Amino acid sequence: IIVAASLGMIDKGGYRHFMEKEIHEQPDAILNSLAGMTGEDGRISANMSREELQAIDGIVMLAAGTSHYASQVARYWIEGLARTPVACEIASEYHYRNPVTTGITTAIAISQSGESLDTLKAMRHAATCGLSTIGLVNVDGSTIAREADAILPTHAGPEIGVASTKAFTAQLTVLISFAVALAEAKGHIDAARADAIHDQLQALPGLVGKSLKLFDDLRPIAHQLKHARSTIYLGRGHLFPIAMEGALKLKELSYIHAEGFASGEMKHGPIALIEDDLPVVALLAADELMEKAASNLKEASARGGRIILIADERAVNDIDFEADIITVPAVDPIIAPILLTIPVQILAYLTALDKGTDVDQPRNLAKSVTVE
Ligand code: AGP
Repeated sequence: IIVAASLGMIDKGGYRHFMEKEIHEQPDAILNSLAGMTGEDGRISANMSREELQAIDGIVMLAAGTSHYASQVARYWIEGLARTPVACEIASEYHYRNPVTTGITTAIAISQSGESLDTLKAMRHAATCGLSTIGLVNVDGSTIAREADAILPTHAGPEIGVASTKAFTAQLTVLISFAVALAEAKGHIDAARADAIHDQLQALPGLVGKSLKLFDDLRPIAHQLKHARSTIYLGRGHLFPIAMEGALKLKELSYIHAEGFASGEMKHGPIALIEDDLPVVALLAADELMEKAASNLKEASARGGRIILIADERAVNDIDFEADIITVPAVDPIIAPILLTIPVQILAYLTALDKGTDVDQPRNLAKSVTVE
């Protein structure tokens, strides 16, 4: 894929960078990935039989980087909906720590390239421990796809930009669909609830399309952010992994140090980082954690933090502290992590663009890390 792109066989489609093009391809990536998880009856099936799903009793997720953050979002969905325990492991750590696999039946290796050696070796180790392996990959015929017992494909299309964008939201789409299929097969949700989430996912590409119009709103914020020495990202609940993913995007694209925290964790130490004008990028959904998360942000604002709030439009009505506010259309909280990722990606892209770093090929990075 990288060679094809370098030979011009995959072009930028009129965009300045592959990353910008791939950010804009997300409505289709989500639509096609959802279609790949849907059976002939038009319902979410994960293309696995009821018996195969019911045999899944404990899951370990193996991944690196952005794919690891996708697994951390999935843990909220799978434990919340299917009541199946999930452990999220950093692939490069997993196979060297002689893990205990008691109560775990299945390893899901998440990898856009399907070639990350850390993730491949972790999956191979899981197989030696007797776990069944599933490869959640974006490249058919990749090594992880070939060696896994089963595949959950993302259909994001070739991703050339080193910083993963459409593959990440495609991973999340496949993962929530898997969580729904697992939950229904295990009897933890009924068909109506499964179909209601499916309906929300079918409407998601439209909401993503609207959120892609936020480039102009985010440009002045990026213009400020490029001067930062350091930035923190905050999220609560299943937005915490999106905060970590946003921090990774900013780091790898603009070389600005950034760290993602669970909002509730600030008072246990990280709030000491807050000083005048420290940028704080915060994610907020219109969910049951909204008030708590907003009060965490008020604490940061009161100490001089410059809040950049990225939120569901319904979550900002009671914000009573100074903030740059970017809203996305109202979205069911369960899929808010996918939609809120869009402005997070755009902010990192525009900051890097403004700084003049190499957006598609950031320094020191490779698109697929095939070494340990
Ligand atoms: C993502 O923006 C990074 N380029 C990187 O963290 C990447 O997610 C990681 O190397 C895993 O790659 P994979 O999904 O192809 O295994």
